[in-house]
Amino acid sequence: MVTPYSVAPTDRRRVVSLFSRLRKPGGQESPLPLYDELRSMGDVVPAPWGGHLITSFGLSDQVLRDRAWRVTDNEWAARQGQGTRWSAPSSRQIGQTLVRLNPPHHTMMRRSVGNMFDRRALGDIRISVEKTTDRLVGRLAEHLRDGVADFVSLVSEELPVRTIGEWMGLPPADFPLLRDLTHAQVFTQELLPTPSQLAISDEATVTLHQYFAALVRERRRSPGDDPVSQWLRTWDELEPDRDRADEAVYYLALLVVLAALETTSNLLSTMAWLIAEHPRQMGWLRAHPQDIPGAVEEVLRYDPPIHVVTRVAGDDMTLAGIDVPKDETVHLMLAAANHDPAQYADPHIFDIRRKVGHLSFGGGIHYCVGAPLARMEATALLTALLRKLPGLSVHRDPQWAPRVAFRRMTTLTVSDSASARVPEQAGPRDL
Ligand code: HEM
Repeated sequence: MVTPYSVAPTDRRRVVSLFSRLRKPGGQESPLPLYDELRSMGDVVPAPWGGHLITSFGLSDQVLRDRAWRVTDNEWAARQGQGTRWSAPSSRQIGQTLVRLNPPHHTMMRRSVGNMFDRRALGDIRISVEKTTDRLVGRLAEHLRDGVADFVSLVSEELPVRTIGEWMGLPPADFPLLRDLTHAQVFTQELLPTPSQLAISDEATVTLHQYFAALVRERRRSPGDDPVSQWLRTWDELEPDRDRADEAVYYLALLVVLAALETTSNLLSTMAWLIAEHPRQMGWLRAHPQDIPGAVEEVLRYDPPIHVVTRVAGDDMTLAGIDVPKDETVHLMLAAANHDPAQYADPHIFDIRRKVGHLSFGGGIHYCVGAPLARMEATALLTALLRKLPGLSVHRDPQWAPRVAFRRMTTLTVSDSASARVPEQAGPRDL
């Protein structure tokens, strides 16, 4: 059978070297040439640690939508044996949450939350998101009157935790703790976590467990209108065993917080960076605010917060002519797929008027539950920045944590002065 995808014999050492560069600060600062190099090896590339890496948009989309490809649930994890990353307590906890459940467990859990952020729910949240955004951008503007400021700590690390924390009715005094625990916990979801990263993640998991188990107990004692109380009511109808109902709600609350914080913070940081580095497109958006949601989509495509998601073959499968035995992994390189020249014209050009889709929220049955909320926060923030800080400029190149799957910008020093440095990245399509 002729396949439109390319699969070539690969030099293992070249792939190892590429991933070692990708996880270093330099690789995180500029991952696109590394993804180009990986794509030049084929649409399906054998991973040196086992399984395959998928670089094309078409194949990634196909795998996400095909239920024969499954997530790495705890039964699969147990088959990998003891002493692997999959047997770490932090990994086993995440293995009980929606994102790592397969049908029929996934179906029941996902149905129980319904459309969490439908139009009505979003309408209620929008008012408080816009207020918070105005406050945060106002505070940033004050700092910038005295010189430069870090956008990440002042704005993008703050908005998601305040949004999700207020929505879930959590005490604001807990927000810094939840943010720190999320940064630590996410290591277990990285592509190749080291033993010391797993230890950090395991430790954070213990505290997260105590926190969310106590939250569920408290909402049992005094239920309200908040989502956790609502999930308890739903689960009491689905599950006659009270402890099991509480456990299901615990895993929901845990995942929602973990899934919402770093990802959205990173989207907001990346958005501020890319927009400030493209002043002509920034000017276009000020004159055409109706294009702001499209600009958010282009930020998501250009540099998604999650660069890799993993699936396993539910049976002996064939992908682009390659045999993939049951239980073997495929890593979908979402950022590479979002820059696939077979899908996008001039993929490395940041162009807010593209109007094309992307894979940054995944696809198929695990499509991100929080996508409407993340989009709304980003739209509110960009609107406020364009209104209140039209002279926002990047003062110093951003820095990233050495990760591969979960991208994390750690600092973005910005200024709002006429002396701001000339953007280096304004390309020919910078309108
Ligand atoms: C820019 C921000 C975000 C990005 C890029 C993002 C990305 C993703 C991706 C790629 C997946 C699918 C993972 C897979 O298929 O293995 C996912 C799933 C999920 N996301 Fe998000 N996410 C974001 C924000 C949020 C927010 C704000 C929430 C909650 C308030 C959230 C909750 C979830 C949940 C619960 C799932 C699991 C869905 C399932 O397995 O059925 N996410 N997200």
